Amino acid sequence: MTRFAIILFTPLLLLLACSNETTADNNAQRKGKGRGEQLFNMHCTLCHGKDGKLGLNGAKDLTTSALSKEQMIAQVTNGKGAMMAYKNVLTAAEIEAVVAHVRSLRQQ
Ligand code: HEC
Repeated sequence: MTRFAIILFTPLLLLLACSNETTADNNAQRKGKGRGEQLFNMHCTLCHGKDGKLGLNGAKDLTTSALSKEQMIAQVTNGKGAMMAYKNVLTAAEIEAVVAHVRSLRQQ
């Protein structure tokens, strides 16, 4: 009888353990995406607009940008033309998060 209970409950426990892990992963992903969007709204919408299309002060439309992820990171880090450098404002991880958000705008 005990063996039967173990056989029955072990897969159930495993299932619970696994579903908890995926929930945690999803939460982390959502948080990561939210962070990039938050930073973008704080630092970039002034010239680029919430949807990336504003183009104020000669800013480029981010939804049609042909730059690679690495080029975007370099431009946000070091600045270009009227756009300032963000290396003293944002950490490397924050720049990566904000660029990930910019790239998600591009796909719309
Ligand atoms: C003061 C206005 C201003 C702000 C604020 C600003 N940008 Fe820009 N951005 C520009 C201008 C101007 C350009 C075009 C630079 C050039 O090529 O001469 C540009 C270009 C870019 C490009 C390259 C687009 C392309 O295809 O060439 C990216 C990516 C970008 N900005 C991302 C960001 C991000 C991310 C932020 C926030 C961290 C930000 N920008 C904040 C003005 C701004």
